[in-house]
Order: sequence, then C-alpha cells, then structure tokens
Amino acid sequence: MHKMKAYVRTSPQSMDVELTELDIPEIDEDELLVKVAAFGVGIHDRYFIPSNTNFPYPIGSEASGVIVKKGTLITDFQVGDRVILSSSLLPKGGCWAEYVAVPSKALIPMPDILEFIEGAAIPVAGKTALECMHTLDLKEGNTLFIAGASGAIGTLVIQLAAARGIRVIGSASSRNHEYMRSLGAEKTVDYSSPTWQEDVKALFPDGVDAALAIQPGTAEDSMMVVKDGGRVITVSGDRVQPTRGITVEQFQHQLNLQEALGSLVNDIASGKVRLVIEHVYAFTQALRALEKTETRHARGKLVVSMQKD
Ligand SMILES: NC(=O)c1ccc[n+]([C@@H]2O[C@H](COP(=O)([O-])OP(=O)(O)OC[C@H]3O[C@@H](n4cnc5c(N)ncnc54)[C@H](OP(=O)(O)O)[C@@H]3O)[C@@H](O)[C@H]2O)c1
Repeated sequence: MHKMKAYVRTSPQSMDVELTELDIPEIDEDELLVKVAAFGVGIHDRYFIPSNTNFPYPIGSEASGVIVKKGTLITDFQVGDRVILSSSLLPKGGCWAEYVAVPSKALIPMPDILEFIEGAAIPVAGKTALECMHTLDLKEGNTLFIAGASGAIGTLVIQLAAARGIRVIGSASSRNHEYMRSLGAEKTVDYSSPTWQEDVKALFPDGVDAALAIQPGTAEDSMMVVKDGGRVITVSGDRVQPTRGITVEQFQHQLNLQEALGSLVNDIASGKVRLVIEHVYAFTQALRALEKTETRHARGKLVVSMQKD
C-alpha cells in the first residue's frame, strides 16, 4: 500500500523512460501529497528534470488530481481539494506517477466545471502561450505569423491573439488549416509548400509585424515574412542571424505566472478559450503518448488519464 507506479528516468545518462514501482513520497511540513488523476504530455517530459536529483526520478511537470495529505505548515489548500499542478523542478519526482509531493506554490485550484484531463492539459502550453503573448507585446490590428500554430502552444496563442484583435497567419500542414481557422487564424499556409512565403506576402506585401517560431528550425524562414524592423520570437532556442533591422529573441520566462495561469484556467472553464486534446491515453500507454508528441505532429495536446483502462 506504500508503493506506487511511476514512469522514471533511471540515470542522468540515459534518456530512456521506464514504468516501475517506487515508494509513495513522504511529504515535508511545507508540502502536499497529490493523488494524480491525469497528466499532460509534451516533448520536454523526457529531459525536463531537476539537476543533481536522485534516480530513479519520476518524470512529468503538469498534472491534475486531488490532495490526499498536507504538511503542518500548509494553510492555503485542504485535503480533498481538486488541483492543477505545474512544476518541472519537484525534488522528490514529477507527476508521471500515482502520487506526487509538491509545494503549494506549484498548485492552482481547479474549477469544479473542469474535467481532470482538461486541468492536466493546461499548465505547460498555457504558461508558454502566455509568456509568448507577453514577450510579443502586440496590439490590436498588428499581424502575427506563427510557425507550428496547430500544436499545444499554437492552439492557445492563435486564440489569445485573435481575441486581442491581432491578425494571425498560422503555419502547419494542410490537414490542420481548417483547424487553425476555427481557432481564429485569418490565413493559413503549409510549410511544405515552396510558395508559402509568397502566399503570406500576397496578403501582407511589406511583411508581418512579428513571427512566433514555435517549432525548432523555423525562425530563419519565419524571418523572411517579417517586415523590416519587425520581431521574431523563438520558443525552441533557434539561433538566427538577424537581417533588415529585425530583432530575434527567445520568449521570456516569467517567474510568477501562477496568477495569470489561474485566469487562463478560468477562461478555459468558462469556454472563452478552447482547449483541444487530440487524444487521451491510459496510464499503461503513456510511452505511446510520449512517442506521439516526439513526432511533432500532434494537434493541440495529449493527455494521460489514470481513470482510463
Ligand atoms: N523553452 C521552454 O520553456 C519551452 C516550453 C514549452 C515548449 N517549448 C518548446 O516548444 C516546442 C513544442 O511546442 P508545442 O508543444 O506547441 O509543439 P507540438 O504540440 O508538438 O506541435 C505540433 C504541431 O506543430 C506542427 N508542425 C510541425 N513541424 C512544423 C513546421 N516545421 N512548421 C510549422 N508547423 C509544424 C504540426 O503540424 P503538422 O502535423 O500539420 O505538421 C503539429 O500540429 C518544443 O520544441 C519545445 O521544446 C519550450
């Protein structure tokens, strides 16, 4: 009864992830124990783990669940609360496990109206989408090109931008064009078409105000459709030599986004922002979910549910 199942990295050298059995973590006086109901899946999951940690280390940085135990110093959450958890730096292990020990600053209350799979799908893409919007700092009427707009982050950025009156051009393969338009993209292009840059220029001859290069390797081409003196924001660390007075920078991490994420959670709960989950996997199928996200062709988000057989 003191054991749990968890997906772990077994050493710092190996990127393999294995299903194993571990002790349920003991909590300190400033921690809570969450029984995981669902967790989100992303390309980061295999490698986003704290440095100098102990192995085997359960991976995972976003989940939803119920608090089953709390330390004596915890005053802001109660046993039985439904919560969303967001952190990639949990010292006792991440949330690809039946239980996870967390500090309360990694938790957001989950509105009753949200399902566990929805709560688990929000943190990483939601936080990154908000940080991208903040770094872009665009105004109503500005134009934004997004490379990788049909994925987890892009699905949210299209909607957040369109809601502010920003004109969005989304890039993905043609099977995702109707999808991107349904989220609010004004124009869509297919990155595999040799004419996609001309297609953008046909609508915006001087180029767009800014580009968000979400997928790795897309910053250089995205810069071609940005106007002189415009901006390219990268999400995956692309390094590019800027031309024509364009600035190229990585999106800015902000330390305390828990509040902003809380308001995005409420917008999703009220239906203002649409959350798209391409597929919900059973716990036993979690590695298939990881492999799917690693193809970089998922639409929206992938989630693992502990309640699915
Ligand atoms: N630095 C950070 O803290 C941080 C945080 C979060 C994420 N990230 C980075 O963000 C990236 C993942 O973002 P995500 O989760 O939104 O991705 P994702 O969900 O995996 O995106 C998949 C989508 O991208 C489209 N796509 C694939 N290749 C493309 C290309 N060359 N041009 C345009 N679209 C393309 C696919 O459409 P088709 O199937 O139609 O091709 C698919 O719908 C990762 O590289 C990750 O490292 C960084």
